[in-house]
Amino acid sequence: MPRPAAFPLLLLAALFFTACNPKVEDDRPGQPVKHRQEAFKALLRAIEPVGRMLDEAQYSAGRLAALNEALAKAREEPWHYYGPDTDYPPSKSRPEVWSQPEKFEAERQGFLTATDALLIAGSAEAARAAYDGIRASCKSCHNAFRR
Ligand code: HEC
Repeated sequence: MPRPAAFPLLLLAALFFTACNPKVEDDRPGQPVKHRQEAFKALLRAIEPVGRMLDEAQYSAGRLAALNEALAKAREEPWHYYGPDTDYPPSKSRPEVWSQPEKFEAERQGFLTATDALLIAGSAEAARAAYDGIRASCKSCHNAFRR
């Protein structure tokens, strides 16, 4: 016989895991929401090593060129998956992406311009300034358009 306290505890544990695992799958054809989230994660993975290199004072033009190649691809990807009917769970995009498309596009352009600066950076200082500008542009768009 389980002790009387065991059952409510198990129930609580089950509720806890449910609350922490709100796994909503993108079940629409082509999975546009899933793909844009993966594209944003890839963008993060592309930019993180640049920050690490600069934080560790390990700037090298060759290494930056290799990282920039990945970034140049990653920065183009998430936007392909913003179709008109893609505002549904598990999306974390705010409805303003679709109701204020000019503002979203302005954020996107600001981000692309910020990354241009890294693509042409020729020194650790220029790379640092460009990197900080990029992170600011990620944040600016997230504040306005991400839940
Ligand atoms: C023009 C707007 C915009 C820019 C610029 C932008 N993001 Fe985002 N990001 C979003 C939105 C909107 C979402 C929510 C996506 C969704 O769930 O629909 C998001 C989601 C993400 C996610 C979460 C993906 C997931 O699995 O939920 C990561 C990580 C991320 N962005 C990283 C970055 C990084 C790093 C940068 C800059 C290098 C960046 N983003 C630039 C708008 C932007």
